[in-house]
Amino acid sequence: MKSSIPIDKAAILKRYKPIDAHTHKGIQGHALLVGGSYGKIGAMTLSSKACLKTGCGLVTVFIPRCGYEILQTANPEVMVLTDVQEKYISNIEFNFMPNAIGIGPGIGQELETQNALHEFLTNDKRLLVIDADALNILSQNAAWISLLPDKTILTPHPKELERLIGKWNSNTEKFEKTVAFSKLHHVIIVMKGAPTFIIDGETIYENSTGNAALATAGTGDVLTGMITSLLAQSYEPIDAAILGVYLHGLTADIALHKTGYQSFIASDVISNIGKAFL
Ligand code: APR
Ligand code: MG
Repeated sequence: MKSSIPIDKAAILKRYKPIDAHTHKGIQGHALLVGGSYGKIGAMTLSSKACLKTGCGLVTVFIPRCGYEILQTANPEVMVLTDVQEKYISNIEFNFMPNAIGIGPGIGQELETQNALHEFLTNDKRLLVIDADALNILSQNAAWISLLPDKTILTPHPKELERLIGKWNSNTEKFEKTVAFSKLHHVIIVMKGAPTFIIDGETIYENSTGNAALATAGTGDVLTGMITSLLAQSYEPIDAAILGVYLHGLTADIALHKTGYQSFIASDVISNIGKAFL
């Protein structure tokens, strides 16, 4: 494996942009998160709350109708747009200009959702984060990968990565294939794991934060919200990915002495984002 660049506190401080005293919510960026399906609205509740807590000024979610009251009740700060379908997404439509879009948490793989993703990728070329079943849909329709704008951030866990790039026989081969995929499609790959690596063409970054407490439902959905938030705040895509992964891991390191490994849940990531920034 090619040697990796460590992402430690010094590397983060070079990338971090302090908030300007005269900023307002418009300048802080408007993020759109697309996802959710019947029984998986929680993924969007977590993701959108994490997005706000990472500093972007406005967050809108696009979800199936069944999630409307859930989202508005759980996260009053988030604006909600709904699909015409009750249980899944069938047509991604919105009437504003988000600075960044995150797609995938809880989205499922209904055929109409797949078609909606294809339609969206054909017509929209904004900054993008792709996660979870939106990644799996791309793996099943490999030709659609060429529709992704340059510097799209993909956030696969190991199984999602395998579906995307194919099986590997060794760690070296895993990295070779991921680097090749990143170069071919001009995308940034957040290779989630312990530790998480961020791959941007030939360059491999290795995150230094995080622990096994993160091995719990929904922490990946939270990461998607955090990275989308940083993208919407005008961080370069590679910096949004690096800073998001570092802060996400740091929340678990900060909270560990209070929750232990067993009791840490995805909401604990969200409630410690502030401390991680501080
Ligand atoms: N050490 C450090 N970090 C870890 C560890 C560990 N032992 N285990 C997990 N993590 C981190 C990963 O690096 C990643 O950031 O926790 C996060 C887990 O992300 P996901 O695997 O995407 O988990 P989750 O949010 O539950 O996914 C929700 O989406 O991707 C689909 O199949 C997935 O249905 C599931 C849903
Ligand atoms: Mg996930």
